[in-house]
Amino acid sequence: MTRSTLLLVLVASLAVASCGDDVATAERPADDAEFIAFERDFQGFQGWRKVDLGTRDDASIHTGGTRISFVNAALPPGSTVAPKGGIIVKVTGIDTAERRVFAMAKRGGTYNASGARGWEWFELDDSGDVPRISWRGLGPPNGETYAGGTECNTCHMAGAASDYVLGPELK
Ligand code: HEC
Repeated sequence: MTRSTLLLVLVASLAVASCGDDVATAERPADDAEFIAFERDFQGFQGWRKVDLGTRDDASIHTGGTRISFVNAALPPGSTVAPKGGIIVKVTGIDTAERRVFAMAKRGGTYNASGARGWEWFELDDSGDVPRISWRGLGPPNGETYAGGTECNTCHMAGAASDYVLGPELK
């Protein structure tokens, strides 16, 4: 190998290396990026820390019947404020035809700034092997009526002092 070929090889491999770095940097989310939950983030939620919410005779789909919530590892016991990436899944009306699965994920930033700040709302379908997201956002889609037509934010804003979590999950 001549000196100039060697130099060429060196320059080429350096270029490849720095190119690889660029890709790695581009894929890494910035620290201030919001957490966007994917279906995989809910996978196995049934094995997360379980909080028994008891059984209540209530006409509302959301707060009625036997309810259990599942809290992900980002929210260890004793947490009082959910960090970005915190997820709580709540199963309502267990063992009834009204059974539903709701969730909230801490998206962070200025998301839902006029409601439960930082939280995104979900309904999940866990009838298959992996949970599917039925809807997500600032509230349920038009036409869906939960808890007498009130929005997720309406009730949960009452819990501003406990990071909009109304049950004992963050205690
Ligand atoms: C009628 C008031 C009301 C509405 C509307 C409501 N929630 Fe709740 N939610 C509650 C209460 C009260 C709890 C505490 C647990 C319990 O009592 O069942 C709760 C608990 C939860 C929890 C478990 C974490 C926590 O705060 O304790 C999740 C997740 C949740 N709700 C999601 C939703 C979603 C998603 C919506 C909108 C589709 C919604 N909620 C609408 C009253 C409400």
